[in-house]
Amino acid sequence: MSIYLDHAATAFPKAPDVAEAVTLFLKQAAGNPGRGGHRLTVSASRVVEGAREDVAALLGGNPERTVFGPGATFWINAVLASRLKAGDRVVTTALEHNAVMRPLRWYEKKRRVKVAVVHGRSSDGVPTVDEMVERVTRAPTSLVVMNHACNVTGSVLPVAEVAQAVSPVPVLVDAAQTAGSRPIDFDEMGVAALAASGHKGLLGPTGIGVLLLAPWFEIEPLVRGGTGSRSESEEMPEHLPDRLEAGTVNTVGAAGLGAACAWIRERAVEAIHDHGRQLLLRLVAGLKDVPGVFLHGWESDKPRVNILSFTMRGKDTGELAAWLDRKHSVMVRAGLHCAPAAHQRLETFPNGTIRVGIGPFNTESDIDALIAAINEAYENGIS
Ligand SMILES: Cc1ncc(COP(=O)(O)O)c(C=O)c1O
Repeated sequence: MSIYLDHAATAFPKAPDVAEAVTLFLKQAAGNPGRGGHRLTVSASRVVEGAREDVAALLGGNPERTVFGPGATFWINAVLASRLKAGDRVVTTALEHNAVMRPLRWYEKKRRVKVAVVHGRSSDGVPTVDEMVERVTRAPTSLVVMNHACNVTGSVLPVAEVAQAVSPVPVLVDAAQTAGSRPIDFDEMGVAALAASGHKGLLGPTGIGVLLLAPWFEIEPLVRGGTGSRSESEEMPEHLPDRLEAGTVNTVGAAGLGAACAWIRERAVEAIHDHGRQLLLRLVAGLKDVPGVFLHGWESDKPRVNILSFTMRGKDTGELAAWLDRKHSVMVRAGLHCAPAAHQRLETFPNGTIRVGIGPFNTESDIDALIAAINEAYENGIS
């Protein structure tokens, strides 16, 4: 039996109701939402708007200001495109995913945007609020962009505290690794915008993600086109979510994501997090005494999502992960996890780490199988 421990890349399996919701939508309700008034349009609108409410309720946002798009990457790019102009300054952290770093480096090179990267001094690289404030106040700053949790180590960053301390500078949060994995109350956080993937902790299909916008923070659409509303106008409607949802929304994805979020709410995010936390502690206890195993960014008392990165002396991470899959049917991710800056900060560049991403359906025996395999790798090698 295979063991999937790569939930930080994408959740598998998805929430139990997702496949059925998607199939049911395609078989019974797959009209184009908001286009016309016949019954299939109405049923599709109902599914999409129901999903919007489910996502917003789970993340503590206002459904009207919760917009669907292809994923966290798209929404991060959309916010940057709307808010940055030549000469602006952005403050970010060394723990960002390339979904943040690559567009920021592009703006730096092509649009003369200044990018200041905070390297937190703590061993997991998480910047303190003071370190962020110090950098933000050093020069006029247009935007702060921060990971909510680092996808390499699982460490949580103090986004709400930073947002409060740097106000009125807006903070954009990349919540790809926390949405559905840790409790989030967007309205309480005080951040300007939060981008999340539908296919990771939210346990939905790929190709759908959300952006939540604070009532005081607006962005211009990145793409413009039909919305079904205000068809008489050649300009985008002013109201959300239509203003930011040009073209037919991913209805199939929304059907799945809505079902997933409803399932998560029923089970409770806290319970999902605690289940993963117990497994994470079991994994750490089992790995930390294996000679030559190094845990990266692990600090037991700090808030985190249920991710663990490790390396093994003398073993190439790619070869070790391939051996785990081939010999033990354990799937983990090896390498740089699309976050070269984080690996540089953690001193695991360029070889990267083995990343274990624990999900709600993993069990103690999954973890024990991985621990046993790593012990075997130490004793007998991986050939
Ligand atoms: C921290 C972080 N940000 C952004 C992304 C990209 O998310 P999406 O697949 O929704 O574009 C990921 C996923 O790999 C991630 O881990």
